[in-house]
Amino acid sequence: MDRFLIDGAHPLRGVLRLSGSKNAALPILLATLLTDEPCVIENVPTRLRDIRFTFRVLEAVGKRVEVLGSRVRVHANKPLKTRAPYELVKQMRASVLVAGPLLARFGWVRVPIPGGCAIGLRPIDIHLQAFEDLGARRTLDQGDIILDSPLRAGPVRLKFPSVGATENLMMAAAALPGVTTIRNAAREPEIEDLARCLIGMGARVSGAGSATVVVRGCRTLRGVVHSVIPDRIEAGTFMLAAAATQGSLRLLDAQPAHLKAVTAALRRAGAVVREGKGDILVSMKGRPRPVSLSTSPYPGFPTDLQAPWLAWMCLARGRSRVRETVFENRFLHAAELGRMGGRVAVSADTAVVEGVPALSGAPIMASDIRAGAALVVAALAARGRSIIQRVYHIDRGYERVEAKLRSVGARIRRVK
Ligand code: UD1
Repeated sequence: MDRFLIDGAHPLRGVLRLSGSKNAALPILLATLLTDEPCVIENVPTRLRDIRFTFRVLEAVGKRVEVLGSRVRVHANKPLKTRAPYELVKQMRASVLVAGPLLARFGWVRVPIPGGCAIGLRPIDIHLQAFEDLGARRTLDQGDIILDSPLRAGPVRLKFPSVGATENLMMAAAALPGVTTIRNAAREPEIEDLARCLIGMGARVSGAGSATVVVRGCRTLRGVVHSVIPDRIEAGTFMLAAAATQGSLRLLDAQPAHLKAVTAALRRAGAVVREGKGDILVSMKGRPRPVSLSTSPYPGFPTDLQAPWLAWMCLARGRSRVRETVFENRFLHAAELGRMGGRVAVSADTAVVEGVPALSGAPIMASDIRAGAALVVAALAARGRSIIQRVYHIDRGYERVEAKLRSVGARIRRVK
């Protein structure tokens, strides 16, 4: 298992180009299951483990995937299978997004229920309820959910604006003639990107980015050429790394409009953020002011940046609170930050952070993608050497992170 060796306390300075968004690319790649025509998806972070994994899911159900740099071509290969293997779903929960397209097209799908993961139980009840509202019947066999009977377009109201459920449902609706209205839909930019892709395939989608998404589908969708939006979570992580190391970074290909909550929080804490057209500049001198915040669905502060934010707040001039409202168990990084001298007390959904003047390097372990990112931010800022174990978590969501960070002055090395 790879590890990162990081010698901290060197300010990051320079220019970084962001990768395409993992969380947008993932459903968009699976949306290619909606057509037998070839699709070309561009600006895909193809080196990420989760994206490689998505290729395996596509291949397992019968597609052929060709990768050329960040461009991915998905072809029909053989008749599609309507079941996803457990081996794949248990490793990447987002594999359940095969259900929407396959169920809508073929009227039958078998998907293993993903187990819990490090950050929470993460059930798929909202996905399943939505399919039932459109007419699916559900049975359970050997830990797999079987959904059958043809779906019909219609109104659906989600009990929580789940990102995955909104995506699954939009993909299903795209292949159903008639109007599907999704109320209390997720509003994340990744939803808007999926909508653009579905429109390119021939569906009519309006309202993406608001709480009501309306999809007018059609039986036969066509191939598409689509370019994925830049990764706002990678952007936010680098913004926090720049601030925590008291450096200055310019991020190319950033979409400032997707980062409003993050920019506002960084500014309140004392960072200078300049938003350009397609880039963002962040710089910071000294320790941050303590700023308390809660995570919430978009346009709120993203749960995926809660961990790196908390790492930065460890260095604040005072006490701050971070409340996690999206996932129930997303503070595993707190104990690791404690090993570096961070003073974080977690109680229920809230972490109370007493800022310290400096963190010190230590051997630490990543427990999930974003907790891993938090440890990288902390280690870059800390005095001395840190060794981060279980880097494979970080590799799921951050493309060539050590090469990118090294190019802006970080002393980071991957050791096999
Ligand atoms: C997506 C993102 C993830 C991000 C999350 C919230 C991808 C691949 N991943 O995950 O990085 O942290 O959005 O912004 O895009 N829930 C239920 N029942 C359901 C579905 C969800 O209870 O059927 C709960 C989850 O357990 C969680 C919350 O709702 O507590 C949010 O989940 P959801 O928005 O669905 O996140 P994902 O799509 O899994």
